[in-house]
Amino acid sequence: MVDDRQPCAGAGTPEFHRRGGALWCEDVPLADLAARHGTPLYVYSRAAMQRRLAAVRAAFGPDAIVCYAVKANSVRAVLQTMHAGGAGFDVVSGGELRRVQAAGLPTAQVVFAGVAKERWEIEAAAAADILAFQVESPHELPLLASVGAQLGRPLRVMLRLNPDVDAGTHAYISTGKKDNKFGVSLAAAGAAVAAIVASPWLRLVGYHVHLGSQLRSVEPYAAALAKVEAFVAGDPARARGISHYDLGGGFGIGYGSGDPLDVAAVAAALLPRLRARGWRPVVEPGRFLVGDAGVLLTRVLGDKPQGGTDFLLVDAAMNDLLRPALYQAEHAIVAVAPHGGPARTVDVVGPVCETGDFLARRRDLPPCAAGDLLAVLAAGAYGASMASNYNTRRRPAEVMVAGGVARVIRRRETFEQLLQNEEPFDEPTAS
Ligand code: LLP
Repeated sequence: MVDDRQPCAGAGTPEFHRRGGALWCEDVPLADLAARHGTPLYVYSRAAMQRRLAAVRAAFGPDAIVCYAVKANSVRAVLQTMHAGGAGFDVVSGGELRRVQAAGLPTAQVVFAGVAKERWEIEAAAAADILAFQVESPHELPLLASVGAQLGRPLRVMLRLNPDVDAGTHAYISTGKKDNKFGVSLAAAGAAVAAIVASPWLRLVGYHVHLGSQLRSVEPYAAALAKVEAFVAGDPARARGISHYDLGGGFGIGYGSGDPLDVAAVAAALLPRLRARGWRPVVEPGRFLVGDAGVLLTRVLGDKPQGGTDFLLVDAAMNDLLRPALYQAEHAIVAVAPHGGPARTVDVVGPVCETGDFLARRRDLPPCAAGDLLAVLAAGAYGASMASNYNTRRRPAEVMVAGGVARVIRRRETFEQLLQNEEPFDEPTAS
Protein backbone atom coordinates (compact mmCIF):
# COMPACT_ATOMS: atom_id res chain seq x y z
CA MET A 1 0.00 0.00 0.00
CA VAL A 2 1.26 3.47 -0.81
CA ASP A 3 1.95 5.53 2.30
CA ASP A 4 0.66 8.99 1.44
CA ARG A 5 1.53 10.48 4.80
CA GLN A 6 2.06 14.24 4.77
CA PRO A 7 3.12 16.42 7.67
CA CYS A 8 0.42 18.56 9.24
CA ALA A 9 1.45 22.21 9.38
CA GLY A 10 1.51 23.39 12.98
CA ALA A 11 1.70 19.93 14.54
CA GLY A 12 4.84 19.68 16.62
CA THR A 13 5.09 15.94 16.18
CA PRO A 14 4.83 13.52 13.22
CA GLU A 15 2.31 11.31 15.00
CA PHE A 16 -0.29 13.90 13.97
CA HIS A 17 -0.12 13.92 10.18
CA ARG A 18 -2.31 13.88 7.09
CA ARG A 19 -3.28 10.94 4.92
CA GLY A 20 -5.37 11.60 1.84
CA GLY A 21 -5.75 15.13 3.18
CA ALA A 22 -7.37 14.05 6.45
CA LEU A 23 -5.79 14.35 9.87
CA TRP A 24 -4.68 11.18 11.65
CA CYS A 25 -3.14 10.33 15.00
CA GLU A 26 -0.66 7.50 14.53
CA ASP A 27 -2.71 4.90 12.59
CA VAL A 28 -6.15 6.21 13.50
CA PRO A 29 -8.21 8.80 11.57
CA LEU A 30 -9.31 11.56 13.93
CA ALA A 31 -12.70 11.83 12.24
CA ASP A 32 -13.45 8.24 13.32
CA LEU A 33 -12.65 9.06 16.94
CA ALA A 34 -14.90 12.11 16.91
CA ALA A 35 -17.71 10.05 15.39
CA ARG A 36 -17.33 7.32 17.99
CA HIS A 37 -16.71 9.38 21.13
CA GLY A 38 -18.24 12.76 20.38
CA THR A 39 -16.70 16.20 20.75
CA PRO A 40 -15.08 18.06 22.38
CA LEU A 41 -12.53 15.26 22.61
CA TYR A 42 -8.90 15.19 23.65
CA VAL A 43 -6.78 12.75 21.64
CA TYR A 44 -3.23 11.85 22.65
CA SER A 45 -0.46 9.96 20.92
CA ARG A 46 1.39 7.63 23.26
CA ALA A 47 4.32 7.35 20.85
CA ALA A 48 4.76 11.14 20.81
CA MET A 49 4.97 11.20 24.61
CA GLN A 50 7.43 8.31 24.62
CA ARG A 51 9.65 9.94 22.03
CA ARG A 52 9.84 13.25 23.89
CA LEU A 53 10.61 11.50 27.16
CA ALA A 54 13.32 9.46 25.49
CA ALA A 55 14.81 12.65 24.04
CA VAL A 56 14.99 14.28 27.48
CA ARG A 57 16.52 11.17 29.02
CA ALA A 58 19.07 10.90 26.22
CA ALA A 59 20.01 14.59 26.58
CA PHE A 60 20.52 14.52 30.35
CA GLY A 61 22.03 11.05 30.56
CA PRO A 62 21.39 7.94 32.61
CA ASP A 63 22.29 9.62 35.87
CA ALA A 64 19.54 12.25 35.59
CA ILE A 65 16.17 11.90 37.25
CA VAL A 66 13.31 13.02 35.01
CA CYS A 67 10.30 13.94 37.12
CA TYR A 68 7.27 14.45 34.88
CA ALA A 69 5.27 17.49 36.06
CA VAL A 70 1.93 15.87 36.79
CA LYS A 71 0.01 19.14 36.56
CA ALA A 72 0.51 19.27 32.80
CA ASN A 73 -1.74 16.28 32.27
CA SER A 74 -2.61 14.10 35.20
CA VAL A 75 -4.79 11.35 33.79
CA ARG A 76 -3.69 7.89 34.87
CA ALA A 77 -2.77 6.57 31.42
CA VAL A 78 -0.36 9.47 30.94
CA LEU A 79 1.25 8.83 34.32
CA GLN A 80 1.63 5.16 33.37
CA THR A 81 3.20 6.12 30.05
CA MET A 82 5.71 8.33 31.82
CA HIS A 83 6.57 5.65 34.36
CA ALA A 84 7.00 3.04 31.64
CA GLY A 85 9.45 5.42 29.96
CA GLY A 86 11.52 5.71 33.12
CA ALA A 87 10.21 8.95 34.64
CA GLY A 88 9.43 9.83 38.22
CA PHE A 89 7.00 12.61 39.09
CA ASP A 90 6.93 16.24 40.14
CA VAL A 91 3.82 16.86 42.23
CA VAL A 92 2.53 20.08 43.73
CA SER A 93 -0.28 18.82 45.91
CA GLY A 94 -1.45 15.92 47.99
CA GLY A 95 -3.99 15.30 45.26
CA GLU A 96 -1.33 14.81 42.59
CA LEU A 97 0.50 12.41 44.90
CA ARG A 98 -2.77 10.54 45.32
CA ARG A 99 -3.00 10.17 41.56
CA VAL A 100 0.47 8.64 41.35
CA GLN A 101 -0.39 6.25 44.15
CA ALA A 102 -3.83 5.43 42.76
CA ALA A 103 -2.14 4.46 39.51
CA GLY A 104 -0.05 2.00 41.54
CA LEU A 105 3.20 3.76 40.61
CA PRO A 106 6.28 4.05 42.80
CA THR A 107 6.94 7.24 44.76
CA ALA A 108 10.70 6.88 45.26
CA GLN A 109 11.33 9.40 42.47
CA VAL A 110 8.70 11.94 43.41
CA VAL A 111 9.59 15.52 44.24
CA PHE A 112 7.02 17.72 45.91
CA ALA A 113 7.11 21.46 45.22
CA GLY A 114 4.39 23.94 46.11
CA VAL A 115 4.48 27.32 47.70
CA ALA A 116 2.12 26.52 50.59
CA LYS A 117 2.02 22.86 51.55
CA GLU A 118 -0.46 21.71 54.17
CA ARG A 119 0.40 19.36 57.00
CA TRP A 120 -1.69 16.48 55.64
CA GLU A 121 0.09 16.75 52.31
CA ILE A 122 3.51 16.67 53.94
CA GLU A 123 2.48 13.70 56.06
CA ALA A 124 1.24 11.78 53.03
CA ALA A 125 4.41 12.49 51.04
CA ALA A 126 6.66 11.65 53.98
CA ALA A 127 4.81 8.36 54.50
CA ALA A 128 5.36 7.64 50.79
CA ASP A 129 9.11 8.26 51.35
CA ILE A 130 9.40 10.54 48.32
CA LEU A 131 12.76 11.59 46.92
CA ALA A 132 12.58 15.14 48.28
CA PHE A 133 10.44 18.07 49.36
CA GLN A 134 11.18 21.28 47.49
CA VAL A 135 11.11 23.86 50.27
CA GLU A 136 9.64 27.07 48.93
CA SER A 137 9.52 29.26 51.99
CA PRO A 138 10.97 29.33 55.49
CA HIS A 139 7.54 28.89 57.07
CA GLU A 140 7.52 25.27 55.86
CA LEU A 141 10.60 24.29 57.81
CA PRO A 142 9.06 23.82 61.30
CA LEU A 143 6.17 21.95 59.70
CA LEU A 144 8.47 19.60 57.78
CA ALA A 145 10.67 19.08 60.84
CA SER A 146 7.70 18.24 63.00
CA VAL A 147 6.49 15.62 60.50
CA GLY A 148 10.03 14.19 60.42
CA ALA A 149 10.09 14.05 64.22
CA GLN A 150 6.70 12.36 64.24
CA LEU A 151 8.05 9.67 61.87
CA GLY A 152 11.38 9.45 63.69
CA ARG A 153 13.47 10.09 60.56
CA PRO A 154 14.75 13.19 58.81
CA LEU A 155 12.99 14.34 55.64
CA ARG A 156 15.07 14.96 52.53
CA VAL A 157 14.65 18.51 51.30
CA MET A 158 15.87 20.63 48.43
CA LEU A 159 15.76 24.38 48.85
CA ARG A 160 13.94 26.13 46.02
CA LEU A 161 15.89 29.26 45.26
CA ASN A 162 14.44 32.26 43.52
CA PRO A 163 17.45 33.44 41.51
CA ASP A 164 15.77 36.53 40.06
CA VAL A 165 16.33 35.42 36.48
CA ASP A 166 14.01 36.61 33.74
CA ALA A 167 12.78 33.62 31.75
CA GLY A 168 11.37 35.88 29.03
CA THR A 169 7.97 34.23 29.16
CA HIS A 170 4.35 35.30 29.79
CA ALA A 171 3.99 37.07 33.16
CA TYR A 172 1.52 34.48 34.44
CA ILE A 173 3.92 31.60 33.88
CA SER A 174 7.12 33.27 35.03
CA THR A 175 8.23 32.03 38.47
CA GLY A 176 11.90 32.86 38.95
CA LYS A 177 11.76 36.66 39.24
CA LYS A 178 12.20 38.23 42.64
CA ASP A 179 8.66 39.60 42.69
CA ASN A 180 7.13 36.14 42.07
CA LYS A 181 5.79 34.21 45.06
CA PHE A 182 7.97 31.15 44.37
CA GLY A 183 11.17 30.00 46.03
CA VAL A 184 13.41 31.67 48.59
CA SER A 185 15.29 34.78 47.55
CA LEU A 186 19.06 34.50 47.53
CA ALA A 187 19.14 37.13 50.27
CA ALA A 188 17.02 34.94 52.57
CA ALA A 189 18.42 31.58 51.48
CA GLY A 190 21.49 31.62 53.73
CA ALA A 191 19.29 31.71 56.82
CA ALA A 192 17.07 28.97 55.36
CA VAL A 193 20.08 26.70 54.80
CA ALA A 194 21.24 27.36 58.37
CA ALA A 195 17.80 26.45 59.72
CA ILE A 196 17.68 23.21 57.69
CA VAL A 197 21.19 22.20 58.71
CA ALA A 198 20.40 22.89 62.36
CA SER A 199 17.38 20.57 62.41
CA PRO A 200 17.91 16.88 63.17
CA TRP A 201 14.69 16.16 61.26
CA LEU A 202 15.68 17.74 57.95
CA ARG A 203 18.41 16.79 55.50
CA LEU A 204 19.47 19.22 52.80
CA VAL A 205 20.14 17.16 49.65
CA GLY A 206 19.90 19.72 46.90
CA TYR A 207 18.89 23.02 45.39
CA HIS A 208 15.92 23.56 43.15
CA VAL A 209 15.22 26.29 40.64
CA HIS A 210 12.20 26.57 38.37
CA LEU A 211 12.13 29.75 36.33
CA GLY A 212 8.81 29.49 34.59
CA SER A 213 7.19 27.81 31.66
CA GLN A 214 7.63 27.81 27.93
CA LEU A 215 11.32 28.77 27.94
CA ARG A 216 12.89 28.72 24.51
CA SER A 217 16.60 29.30 25.21
CA VAL A 218 19.48 27.90 27.25
CA GLU A 219 20.52 31.18 28.83
CA PRO A 220 18.07 31.38 31.74
CA TYR A 221 19.01 27.84 32.86
CA ALA A 222 22.71 28.68 32.72
CA ALA A 223 22.20 32.04 34.46
CA ALA A 224 20.23 30.41 37.27
CA LEU A 225 22.91 27.79 37.86
CA ALA A 226 25.56 30.52 37.96
CA LYS A 227 23.58 32.30 40.68
CA VAL A 228 23.23 29.08 42.67
CA GLU A 229 26.96 28.41 42.32
CA ALA A 230 27.72 31.89 43.61
CA PHE A 231 25.35 31.37 46.51
CA VAL A 232 26.97 28.06 47.43
CA ALA A 233 30.41 29.65 47.26
CA GLY A 234 29.36 32.04 50.01
CA ASP A 235 29.64 29.46 52.82
CA PRO A 236 30.98 25.88 52.93
CA ALA A 237 27.87 24.77 54.86
CA ARG A 238 25.81 25.49 51.76
CA ALA A 239 27.62 22.78 49.76
CA ARG A 240 27.77 20.09 52.44
CA GLY A 241 25.69 17.00 51.68
CA ILE A 242 24.34 18.39 48.41
CA SER A 243 23.79 15.55 45.95
CA HIS A 244 21.10 16.90 43.58
CA TYR A 245 20.43 19.97 41.47
CA ASP A 246 16.89 20.31 40.19
CA LEU A 247 16.94 22.72 37.28
CA GLY A 248 13.17 22.73 37.00
CA GLY A 249 10.96 22.28 33.97
CA GLY A 250 9.67 24.90 31.60
CA PHE A 251 11.04 23.34 28.41
CA GLY A 252 9.19 25.22 25.69
CA ILE A 253 7.43 23.82 22.62
CA GLY A 254 6.77 25.40 19.23
CA TYR A 255 2.98 26.04 19.28
CA GLY A 256 3.06 26.23 15.53
CA SER A 257 5.79 28.86 15.33
CA GLY A 258 9.41 28.05 15.93
CA ASP A 259 11.09 25.05 17.41
CA PRO A 260 10.87 23.48 20.83
CA LEU A 261 13.62 24.21 23.32
CA ASP A 262 16.87 22.46 22.43
CA VAL A 263 17.05 20.27 25.53
CA ALA A 264 20.36 18.77 24.44
CA ALA A 265 21.84 22.27 24.43
CA VAL A 266 20.56 22.90 27.97
CA ALA A 267 22.09 19.63 29.08
CA ALA A 268 25.38 20.41 27.34
CA ALA A 269 25.58 23.79 29.08
CA LEU A 270 24.80 22.51 32.57
CA LEU A 271 25.99 18.92 32.88
CA PRO A 272 29.76 19.56 33.01
CA ARG A 273 29.22 22.08 35.81
CA LEU A 274 27.01 19.69 37.75
CA ARG A 275 29.38 16.77 37.26
CA ALA A 276 32.26 18.85 38.57
CA ARG A 277 30.38 19.20 41.84
CA GLY A 278 28.97 15.68 41.96
CA TRP A 279 25.43 17.03 41.75
CA ARG A 280 22.91 14.69 40.13
CA PRO A 281 20.57 16.49 37.71
CA VAL A 282 16.83 16.46 38.24
CA VAL A 283 14.51 17.91 35.57
CA GLU A 284 10.77 18.48 35.79
CA PRO A 285 9.33 18.92 32.32
CA GLY A 286 5.59 18.80 31.82
CA ARG A 287 4.57 20.58 28.63
CA PHE A 288 7.55 19.34 26.60
CA LEU A 289 6.55 15.72 27.21
CA VAL A 290 2.82 15.94 26.53
CA GLY A 291 1.95 19.28 24.89
CA ASP A 292 2.56 18.37 21.26
CA ALA A 293 1.25 14.85 21.91
CA GLY A 294 -2.37 15.96 22.21
CA VAL A 295 -5.09 17.71 20.21
CA LEU A 296 -8.54 18.92 21.12
CA LEU A 297 -11.16 17.97 18.54
CA THR A 298 -14.13 20.28 18.26
CA ARG A 299 -17.07 20.45 15.88
CA VAL A 300 -18.27 23.58 14.13
CA LEU A 301 -21.76 24.55 15.25
CA GLY A 302 -22.31 27.56 13.06
CA ASP A 303 -21.23 30.91 11.82
CA LYS A 304 -22.00 34.40 13.01
CA PRO A 305 -20.78 37.51 11.24
CA GLN A 306 -21.21 40.41 13.63
CA GLY A 307 -19.64 43.84 14.16
CA GLY A 308 -16.99 43.29 11.53
CA THR A 309 -15.90 39.90 12.91
CA ASP A 310 -16.65 36.47 11.50
CA PHE A 311 -17.30 34.33 14.55
CA LEU A 312 -16.97 30.60 14.01
CA LEU A 313 -18.97 28.90 16.75
CA VAL A 314 -17.58 25.56 17.92
CA ASP A 315 -18.50 23.09 20.65
CA ALA A 316 -15.28 23.44 22.69
CA ALA A 317 -14.90 26.37 25.01
CA MET A 318 -12.67 28.03 27.57
CA ASN A 319 -13.77 25.48 30.16
CA ASP A 320 -12.24 22.75 27.98
CA LEU A 321 -9.08 24.65 27.03
CA LEU A 322 -8.38 27.72 29.13
CA ARG A 323 -5.00 28.68 27.72
CA PRO A 324 -6.11 31.14 24.99
CA ALA A 325 -8.37 33.03 27.40
CA LEU A 326 -5.93 33.04 30.32
CA TYR A 327 -2.57 33.57 28.64
CA GLN A 328 -3.52 34.79 25.14
CA ALA A 329 -1.94 31.49 24.07
CA GLU A 330 -1.91 30.83 20.34
CA HIS A 331 -2.76 27.24 19.48
CA ALA A 332 -2.71 26.32 15.82
CA ILE A 333 -6.16 25.22 14.64
CA VAL A 334 -6.60 23.08 11.53
CA ALA A 335 -9.50 21.45 9.74
CA VAL A 336 -9.52 17.67 10.17
CA ALA A 337 -10.74 17.25 6.57
CA PRO A 338 -10.21 20.60 4.85
CA HIS A 339 -12.40 21.67 1.94
CA GLY A 340 -10.69 23.63 -0.76
CA GLY A 341 -11.27 27.32 -1.13
CA PRO A 342 -9.84 30.62 0.01
CA ALA A 343 -9.02 31.07 3.70
CA ARG A 344 -11.20 33.34 5.76
CA THR A 345 -10.24 35.28 8.90
CA VAL A 346 -12.35 34.17 11.85
CA ASP A 347 -12.58 34.25 15.62
CA VAL A 348 -13.04 30.68 16.83
CA VAL A 349 -15.32 30.91 19.85
CA GLY A 350 -17.15 28.49 22.13
CA PRO A 351 -20.59 28.46 23.69
CA VAL A 352 -19.54 29.81 27.13
CA CYS A 353 -21.08 33.10 28.17
CA GLU A 354 -17.90 35.15 28.35
CA THR A 355 -16.35 37.48 25.80
CA GLY A 356 -13.04 35.90 26.84
CA ASP A 357 -14.30 32.56 25.60
CA PHE A 358 -12.26 32.10 22.46
CA LEU A 359 -9.91 29.45 21.15
CA ALA A 360 -8.38 31.79 18.58
CA ARG A 361 -8.84 35.31 17.31
CA ARG A 362 -8.21 36.74 13.85
CA ARG A 363 -7.20 33.35 12.50
CA ASP A 364 -7.11 32.34 8.83
CA LEU A 365 -8.98 29.07 8.37
CA PRO A 366 -10.16 27.26 5.26
CA PRO A 367 -13.88 27.56 4.65
CA CYS A 368 -15.86 25.45 7.11
CA ALA A 369 -19.49 24.74 7.75
CA ALA A 370 -21.58 23.39 10.60
CA GLY A 371 -20.62 19.77 11.28
CA ASP A 372 -17.00 20.14 10.21
CA LEU A 373 -14.31 19.04 12.58
CA LEU A 374 -11.42 21.20 13.75
CA ALA A 375 -8.34 20.15 15.69
CA VAL A 376 -6.75 22.52 18.19
CA LEU A 377 -3.11 21.46 18.11
CA ALA A 378 -0.56 21.13 20.90
CA ALA A 379 -3.32 20.85 23.48
CA GLY A 380 -1.90 17.90 25.42
CA ALA A 381 -0.45 20.03 28.22
CA TYR A 382 -2.57 22.19 30.53
CA GLY A 383 -5.66 21.39 28.48
CA ALA A 384 -7.62 18.62 30.17
CA SER A 385 -5.84 19.24 33.46
CA MET A 386 -7.15 22.82 33.62
CA ALA A 387 -10.64 22.01 32.35
CA SER A 388 -13.58 23.06 34.49
CA ASN A 389 -17.34 22.69 34.67
CA TYR A 390 -18.09 26.37 34.13
CA ASN A 391 -21.52 26.88 32.56
CA THR A 392 -22.31 23.36 33.83
CA ARG A 393 -20.40 21.81 30.98
CA ARG A 394 -19.10 18.29 31.23
CA ARG A 395 -15.35 17.94 30.96
CA PRO A 396 -14.37 16.25 27.69
CA ALA A 397 -13.55 12.61 27.12
CA GLU A 398 -9.92 11.71 26.52
CA VAL A 399 -8.55 9.06 24.18
CA MET A 400 -5.05 7.61 24.00
CA VAL A 401 -3.85 6.26 20.67
CA ALA A 402 -1.11 3.65 20.68
CA GLY A 403 -0.33 2.39 17.18
CA GLY A 404 -3.57 1.38 15.55
CA VAL A 405 -5.49 1.21 18.79
CA ALA A 406 -7.41 4.05 20.42
CA ARG A 407 -8.65 3.68 23.96
CA VAL A 408 -10.77 5.93 26.11
CA ILE A 409 -8.62 6.85 29.10
CA ARG A 410 -11.18 9.17 30.71
CA ARG A 411 -14.86 9.10 29.92
CA ARG A 412 -16.78 12.28 29.30
CA GLU A 413 -18.23 13.52 32.56
CA THR A 414 -21.92 12.95 33.15
CA PHE A 415 -24.44 15.43 34.43
CA GLU A 416 -25.06 13.03 37.33
CA GLN A 417 -21.40 13.42 38.34
CA LEU A 418 -21.72 17.16 38.13
CA LEU A 419 -24.67 17.18 40.47
CA GLN A 420 -23.73 14.40 42.83
CA ASN A 421 -22.26 16.51 45.64
CA GLU A 422 -25.20 18.82 45.95
CA GLU A 423 -27.49 18.39 48.94
CA PRO A 424 -31.18 19.12 48.89
CA PHE A 425 -31.96 22.41 50.55
CA ASP A 426 -35.39 22.71 52.07
CA GLU A 427 -36.69 26.23 52.34
CA PRO A 428 -36.72 27.11 56.04
CA THR A 429 -40.35 27.39 57.12
CA ALA A 430 -41.36 30.70 58.72
CA SER A 431 -42.31 30.25 62.39
N1 LLP B 1 8.18 22.38 38.00
C1 LLP B 1 7.51 23.32 38.70
C2 LLP B 1 7.94 23.63 40.05
C3 LLP B 1 6.43 23.99 38.11
O1 LLP B 1 5.80 24.93 38.80
C4 LLP B 1 6.05 23.67 36.79
C5 LLP B 1 4.92 24.35 36.14
C6 LLP B 1 6.75 22.67 36.11
C7 LLP B 1 7.83 22.05 36.75
C8 LLP B 1 6.41 22.23 34.71
O2 LLP B 1 6.48 23.26 33.80
P1 LLP B 1 6.44 22.93 32.23
O3 LLP B 1 7.62 22.07 31.92
O4 LLP B 1 5.19 22.20 31.97
O5 LLP B 1 6.47 24.25 31.57
N2 LLP B 1 -0.87 26.52 32.96
C9 LLP B 1 0.27 27.14 32.33
C10 LLP B 1 1.57 26.58 32.82
C11 LLP B 1 1.73 26.66 34.31
C12 LLP B 1 2.99 25.99 34.77
C13 LLP B 1 3.06 25.92 36.24
N3 LLP B 1 4.24 25.25 36.72
C14 LLP B 1 0.13 27.03 30.82
O6 LLP B 1 -0.87 26.48 30.34
O7 LLP B 1 0.98 27.51 30.07
